[in-house]
This record gives sequence, C-alpha cells and structure tokens, in this order.
Amino acid sequence: MATDLHRQVIRPAGQKTDRKPDRPGTGTGTGTGTGTGAGTAVRVEGLTRAFDGRAVIDRLDLDIRPGEFTALLGRSGCGKSTLLRVLAGLDREVEGSVLVPRRRAVAFQSPRLMPWKPVWRNVLLGLPGHPDRAVAEQALEEVGLGHRSGAWPKTLSGGEAQRASLARALVREPDLLLLDEPFGALDALTRITAQRLVAELWQRRGCAVLLVTHDVDEALLLADRALVMENGVIAHDNPVALPRPRDPGDPRFAELRSRLLDQLGVDNHPAAQAA
Ligand SMILES: Nc1ncnc2c1ncn2[C@@H]1O[C@H](COP(=O)(O)OP(=O)(O)OP(=O)(O)O)[C@@H](O)[C@H]1O
Ligand SMILES: [Mg+2]
Repeated sequence: MATDLHRQVIRPAGQKTDRKPDRPGTGTGTGTGTGTGAGTAVRVEGLTRAFDGRAVIDRLDLDIRPGEFTALLGRSGCGKSTLLRVLAGLDREVEGSVLVPRRRAVAFQSPRLMPWKPVWRNVLLGLPGHPDRAVAEQALEEVGLGHRSGAWPKTLSGGEAQRASLARALVREPDLLLLDEPFGALDALTRITAQRLVAELWQRRGCAVLLVTHDVDEALLLADRALVMENGVIAHDNPVALPRPRDPGDPRFAELRSRLLDQLGVDNHPAAQAA
C-alpha cells in the first residue's frame, strides 16, 4: 500500500508501540519511505506536535488495521483534531513517524462547500485530471443526493450538505477516511440517518475509518475500537466486540458505555446522577 512518511523518530530496538514509550533520545532521523505492512493502514510512532512550546500530542503511538472502524474520543482540547489533521497531511510540523495510505479523505463538522460551485463541482474539487460529472453523480447517488447534483450549496439542508461532503470524500476512493465530528452540527434525527449512512458506506467500501466524536453511543454504535485520548497519547484502547447492528439496550453495550464514560472522567454512577 502506498504511504506517506513524515520525519521518523529512531526508536530503541524492540520497543512496543501499544504503550507510551520511555522518552527516547528524540533523535529525528530522516527516515526512509517504507510501507506500513500488509496488516496496517495507519502506523504512528512517537508522534509529537507542539504549539508555542506546549506538546498537544506527546509521543503518541497508534496502529489502525485496513478496514478497521476506529472512534476517537477525548475531552475538548485534548488534541483529537490535531491528530486528524496530521493523518490527513494538513499539518506536517511534527516529530515522529506517520505512515498513512496515500489515498485518504477527510470530512469535517462543517461541510466546507464552496458556495459559488454547484454540488457536483464541489464533489470533484481538488481531484486530479478533469473527472466527468458522472463520477460526482455516482458518489452523490451513494449518499442519496443524486437528485441535488446541480443544486447550489446554500439551498441544501444541513444534513444534505454533510452528505455532499461525504460524497466529496468517497469520490477519492480512500483507503483511510478521516471524520472529525461529522454529525456534530446535525439535529438528532438527521444524525441517526447520517450515522447509518456512514456505517453502510464503510461496510460497502471496506476502507479504514477514524471517527472523532464526543458521543459515546455513536462510537459504540459504529466502531470496532473506541480510543480515548488524554495527555497527548492514546490513553485507553477499547475493543468493541459487539454484533452488528448494535443495540444500545444490550447490557454489554451499557457496560462499555459506562467504562468509556469513566475513562473520559464523566461520573456516570446512578448515585452521582441523582445528586
Ligand atoms: N494552530 C494552532 N495554534 C495554537 N494552538 C493550537 C492550534 N491548533 C490547535 N491548538 C491547540 O491545541 C489543543 C488541541 O486542539 P484540538 O483542536 O486538537 O482539540 P480537540 O481535541 O479536537 O478539541 P475539541 O473536542 O474541542 O474539538 C488546543 O488547546 C488548541 O488550542
Ligand atoms: Mg476538534
């Protein structure tokens, strides 16, 4: 699988990647463009991103398998979007090693459509060559928006605009789909529809997904793994081994929800709620 490479940290031999490393010599070598290996879509090792001398991401390690749906949770300001931007290749001011598929796409909370271009042109925006309108229309069909291909973005509802943004991501045929709170601004009903759509698209396309969300139930409905970010690293990595479609009424769902809320520092015990 084709990969990009950021600066590579030279790591002590044999150091595991599933825990916070001892502080390495922080020697930033130039690294060579090796692949992530057949079983890995994303491999992040010793990633550090600092703003004004403050490390928001601090020697973070993360592996994501091809086709795996991973949810990323964490308190506001803990660095989720920063990590996503690095994986998207939008921020290269980093130390560490970041290997990602060359084909990747990102969708944000706000759909970021250009108001002066019709929906289908927005979908094709930034694609190399001159792809045909039919390419955009196929992706729009996939998100149930084929009939709005020629519409102006300002005439779309919030949910429709978000679906157009998803079509723009899909048209890139990503091996890695990065979603930063894509349903955050949607009303509850539209949000459920959008979640189902993403689940369907993921099952059909088979790409790896990293979804940033604040919604514990959303993470448990959609993901194979729920990560909690804290102090600049992945502090908790929870497998979500529940059958699909998921049932929030399932006691195992409730148990995982409770564990995640604990990890997020939300007091969810009945006595605390009654107080
Ligand atoms: N370009 C920047 N310059 C300076 N500080 C930044 C920059 N981008 C992010 N930060 C800081 O890094 C920290 C992490 O920001 P980030 O947006 O990654 O948080 P987040 O986990 O996505 O939060 P939220 O859940 O609120 O979206 C914040 O303290 C933020 O102020
Ligand atoms: Mg964010």
